[in-house]
Amino acid sequence: MKKNKISKNWINKNKKDPFIKQSKIQGYRSRSAFKLIEINNKFNFLKNNLSLLDLGACPGGWSQVASKKIIKGKILSVDIKPMVKIDTVEFINGDFCSENINKKIFSYFKSKIDIVLSDMAINTTGNKSLDSYNTGELCLKAMDLALQILSHNGVFLSKVFMGSIFEEINKKAKSNFKKIVIYKPMASKKESKEIYIYCKGILKVR
Ligand SMILES: C[S@@+](CC[C@H](N)C(=O)[O-])C[C@H]1O[C@@H](n2cnc3c(N)ncnc32)[C@H](O)[C@@H]1O
Repeated sequence: MKKNKISKNWINKNKKDPFIKQSKIQGYRSRSAFKLIEINNKFNFLKNNLSLLDLGACPGGWSQVASKKIIKGKILSVDIKPMVKIDTVEFINGDFCSENINKKIFSYFKSKIDIVLSDMAINTTGNKSLDSYNTGELCLKAMDLALQILSHNGVFLSKVFMGSIFEEINKKAKSNFKKIVIYKPMASKKESKEIYIYCKGILKVR
């Protein structure tokens, strides 16, 4: 298919996407916001006064959703891309895996926190298995951070692409968290291998 035809198809598809329409109407920066709204409707974990870390937050849809629920708590968002300010949300620009950003995250919260979100994905290369593997690696690293920073009853929610690395992620989650649910919200495109892993309650707090 020619490039022009592909981009026309993409524009037409997006015009019909109800989540894109709704994100514009409701003032969300991304259609992803509706994924978190749906996941929270199922698990009801976003509550006032909590502390939350949003990894891979840009452009900020998830942080917007979190900031509507957590009015008085602490929300820290991190991304390698810059993000336009959201009231009540603190932002750090950088790679969450780097030592420097890691230190900044811990010094911002100063104590254990309630929720770690990761909607992180690498810039896609077009090679689906490589992309799903690399995004899975981000999930494993985010889980490591979650295990260090979450309190006893904390929640870790992360994007994963179904693929070769999924079993490793699921196994690691099962050996570290009390409750694990794999969930695909309606807002996650059917044709995408994206799913979410919801983990609650750490088995052995570090
Ligand atoms: C799908 S977007 C997140 C969308 C966001 N949840 C929202 O609702 O607007 C994935 C983000 O992960 C970020 N990302 C990827 N690797 C990262 C890393 N190592 N550290 C921080 N952010 C990263 C990307 O820059 C990208 O902005």
